[in-house]
Amino acid sequence: MRLSSGVMLAALAGPAAAANSTYYNPILPGWHSDPSCTQVDGTFYCVTSTFISFPGLPIYASKDLINWKHVSHVWNRESQLPGYSWATPEQQNGMFAATIRYRDGVFYVICEYLNVEDKDSGVLFKSTNPYDDASWSDPVTFPAPKIDPDLFWDDDGKAYVATQGIQLQEMNLDTGAMGPAVPLWNGTGGVWPEGPHIYKRGGYYYLMIAEGGTAEDHAITIARAKSITGPYTPSPNNPILTNRGSQEYFQTVGHGDLFQDAAGNWWGTALATRSGPEYKSYPMGRETVLFPVTWAGDGSDWPILQPVRGKMSGWALPPPTRDVPGDGPFNSDPDVYDFKTKGGAIPRNLVYWRVPREGAFTATEKGLQVVLGRNSLAGLPGGPEPAAKAISFIGRRQTDSLFTFSVDLDFSPKADGQEAGVTAFLTQNANIQLGVVLVEEQPSFRFNVSGQVKTSAVPKGWEGKTVRLEIKMVKPTEYTFSAMLAADEKTRVALGTASAELLSGGSGSFVGTLIGVYATCNGAGEGIDCPAGTPNAYFKRWRYTGDGQYFSETETVPREGKGKGKGMRRKRSMLDSGL
Ligand SMILES: *[C@@H]1O[C@H](CO)[C@@H](O)[C@H](O)[C@H]1NC(C)=O
Ligand SMILES: *[C@@H]1O[C@H](CO)[C@@H](O)[C@H](O)[C@H]1NC(C)=O
Ligand SMILES: *[C@@H]1O[C@H](CO)[C@@H](O)[C@H](O)[C@H]1NC(C)=O
Repeated sequence: MRLSSGVMLAALAGPAAAANSTYYNPILPGWHSDPSCTQVDGTFYCVTSTFISFPGLPIYASKDLINWKHVSHVWNRESQLPGYSWATPEQQNGMFAATIRYRDGVFYVICEYLNVEDKDSGVLFKSTNPYDDASWSDPVTFPAPKIDPDLFWDDDGKAYVATQGIQLQEMNLDTGAMGPAVPLWNGTGGVWPEGPHIYKRGGYYYLMIAEGGTAEDHAITIARAKSITGPYTPSPNNPILTNRGSQEYFQTVGHGDLFQDAAGNWWGTALATRSGPEYKSYPMGRETVLFPVTWAGDGSDWPILQPVRGKMSGWALPPPTRDVPGDGPFNSDPDVYDFKTKGGAIPRNLVYWRVPREGAFTATEKGLQVVLGRNSLAGLPGGPEPAAKAISFIGRRQTDSLFTFSVDLDFSPKADGQEAGVTAFLTQNANIQLGVVLVEEQPSFRFNVSGQVKTSAVPKGWEGKTVRLEIKMVKPTEYTFSAMLAADEKTRVALGTASAELLSGGSGSFVGTLIGVYATCNGAGEGIDCPAGTPNAYFKRWRYTGDGQYFSETETVPREGKGKGKGMRRKRSMLDSGL
């Protein structure tokens, strides 16, 4: 790929004079932290953090900055990093903030895999086709004592990696050899100067960083120098972006990246949390927001980042389109998955908690066959490695303030402990489960909220029939769980509610809620295996639909064309052309 001549001409002519647009944040709703984005040939590409979930480091592609297609995962094969996943017991280690860049036909994603002992943790992946998982290389690994690597090429072609601190090292992108670390800047005094990105413009090297920690005090600050190694002079306007100390619905704004569109306009992405100043209920965690960027017209040449709000107005967006290559779903699409094709691929937006053991999840004529994991969602018996391999969970990001998720389950537990069901899952320590189990030989529903367990007998006449389990949010602060016969929704029984605060922060302050299914024999058996003869669980008719997206404490994004069919409902609703 190369920049088209149209791109070059538009850039030379300066920003196009099209009317400004309005749009709504977040542009990547659901758990999408630490976004890094770039634009190539009129298409935007972003990568976000995934920690221990797998596949990791999703690539989203868009031509209009609003409709984002999930086109690949950078980390998609166990063999890319043999053993790393299963050697990571902690819930919030793994793939930290990555940077995506493009140069001479190659996409680069650089990241640090945190806390895997005795291995180089810096990882640099390359691809010539980000629409194809297989195109992402095995990584070049490198020693990375600091998180959040950036990647920047200077005019002489030398590649530099800036990391937390903030420090700079030259890097050989073929071998992973690193030069000596040069300290660049400590930031303006906030804790954790991190998430650096370097840009060159008008003879200055701009070093944009995050500081203040990733919670309420988060902020973006910037400094610049005439030489890449410094000395760096901070902007007089720091922090150049933050919602710290504000009453805004969008809090924790920080960890940003800047890029230009094909018309030459500057934009930025950052993470933010839809928590309001109370910062108590935010089950989707840190999401990706978009903001217009201008450069001060007073000759001082510092960037001005437009404050992050739910409804934004700024540069004309490229015309809306879903004409993006690749075969993944758009992030805001509903799920309509039946898993009926034997051996069919698992949809790209469904993820596991670490690399799953081989054969645990298989599409069959009977639906998605899930081999029961020996460990419960919470369990870590037997040390990290078997525990990591023995959790059977698959889920998708909660991408909407309000939603309905349901799935049909065929499962007949034969022994105590055998369980299959649905879960709203933040970490192994914070999740809400509704499962089908045996209690004194009676098939029962078990609703488990933080160890508070409520069981109720499966109604008479349901034995041997397909059961539909449902998780729903009718207000953004509470999950409701229910069950019904798949063949008759009128049989619905409400089985419990749980506060979204249980899935906000705490043991999962870096991650966000996943909605999905699990199956376990709750510790019976040996090693990673449940006892011989343990039945599999079959899930089919997996449905997820967004029912509302809050952009302030009280307002939801207007929805147009509702009912027009799969994936169409938000096509234009995220935009109204601000004429
Ligand atoms: C950062 O702070 C340390 C400790 O105060 C100081 O020694 C160092 O010179 C500072 N680095 C830069 C680049 O200003
Ligand atoms: C259009 O958006 C840009 C970027 O946010 C802003 O600088 C400019 O003032 C806006 N123009 C109008 C007419 O609102
Ligand atoms: C309920 O969930 C907690 C974790 O939240 C777990 O420790 C416990 O074992 C579960 N109880 C049952 C009966 O599954």
